Amino acid sequence: MVRVGIVGSTGYTGMELVRILSRHPEVDLAVLTSESYVGRPYVDVYPALQGGVDLHCEALDVAQMARRCDVVFTALPHTKAMECVPEFLDRGCRVVDLSADFRLRQKEVFEAWYAPHTAPELLSQAAYGLPELHRDEIRDAPLVANPGCYPTGALLAAAPLLAEGWIDPDTLIVNSASGVTGAGRSLSLGSLFCEVNEGFRAYKVAEHRHTPEMEQEISRLCGRSVRITFVPHLLPVSRGILTTLYATLVHEVNEEEMLRLYRRYYSGEPFVRILPGGVTPNIREVRGTNLCDIGLRPDPRTNRVIVLSAIDNLVKGASGQAVQNMNLLFGLPETLGLETPPLFI
Ligand SMILES: NC(=O)c1ccc[n+]([C@@H]2O[C@H](COP(=O)([O-])OP(=O)(O)OC[C@H]3O[C@@H](n4cnc5c(N)ncnc54)[C@H](OP(=O)(O)O)[C@@H]3O)[C@@H](O)[C@H]2O)c1
Repeated sequence: MVRVGIVGSTGYTGMELVRILSRHPEVDLAVLTSESYVGRPYVDVYPALQGGVDLHCEALDVAQMARRCDVVFTALPHTKAMECVPEFLDRGCRVVDLSADFRLRQKEVFEAWYAPHTAPELLSQAAYGLPELHRDEIRDAPLVANPGCYPTGALLAAAPLLAEGWIDPDTLIVNSASGVTGAGRSLSLGSLFCEVNEGFRAYKVAEHRHTPEMEQEISRLCGRSVRITFVPHLLPVSRGILTTLYATLVHEVNEEEMLRLYRRYYSGEPFVRILPGGVTPNIREVRGTNLCDIGLRPDPRTNRVIVLSAIDNLVKGASGQAVQNMNLLFGLPETLGLETPPLFI
């Protein structure tokens, strides 16, 4: 059994990790930490998990936690993970970090978009945890930087076209709409029901922090530096991200050829579903699952292609993908604990 600890277990991604891992057949959930609920039964915070989790929330004590865990998930706000991850690694724990702290390979880029980095020596050691693109690198990594939710949906949608060189990457535009859990559980005016319900708006237009993360991975796929336009939107639902990509084709391609490319690129991938021609993905059809649904359509009239993807931001966009990464780290079947069917109605 793999002994698992979760730092920041009381946030939304922490809760989703607990939900998935409490049913994982090879996991012994050993330690759950919190800032605000130390000493309280975990199920006091999330009563829905009653009967499945009998741990109490603990204060973070890295030395003690490292003795009790083989792997630690850090589900903390950015800049907080980098305070404890180096010591977990020094003490022999493997770490899957859900924050942005280790996703960007260049310290200067991280500091331009986030804050000063206190453990930059780890940036080159962290594997970017998108298994469909970096599976072999992840298996041997001491530290996995779990991707952001928007980059997960966008990169899975764009990767085949970029890898094959079928689109001009400089023309890539990414539009995404996310459910409100994407903002986390802490109180904020913009996440209140009346502020969000029945509305639909863009935010952080052309300045969202997931932009450099997408650019980093797109540049790796293309073998040269690429910049993209990214516009996130807030959708008044709890979970889900629908992403729409637009890009100019470098040569004429029909729908059948595109579908063949995507089916080949993702053949054998348990969590990517390529939808039949003419079918568009729906966040409801991946709800509660680690799936990414992809639909596509070339537009010969404009010489552009449109690709759409749907994920659950808390599962494939965060905690499910983190568990997929943990399965890889410990040589377990990648789908273990992640086979829940969608809650689509
Ligand atoms: N939400 C998503 O869809 C999503 C997707 C991908 C990645 N992420 C990333 O995953 C990380 C966690 O996100 P989340 O949505 O789960 O956030 P969240 O709901 O706000 O939860 C944050 C967790 O961190 C703890 N915490 C807060 N401030 C802390 C501090 N100063 N020191 C130590 N612990 C602190 C909280 O503890 P208490 O509850 O005890 O106060 C809570 O357990 C973030 O970096 C986020 O960007 C989120």
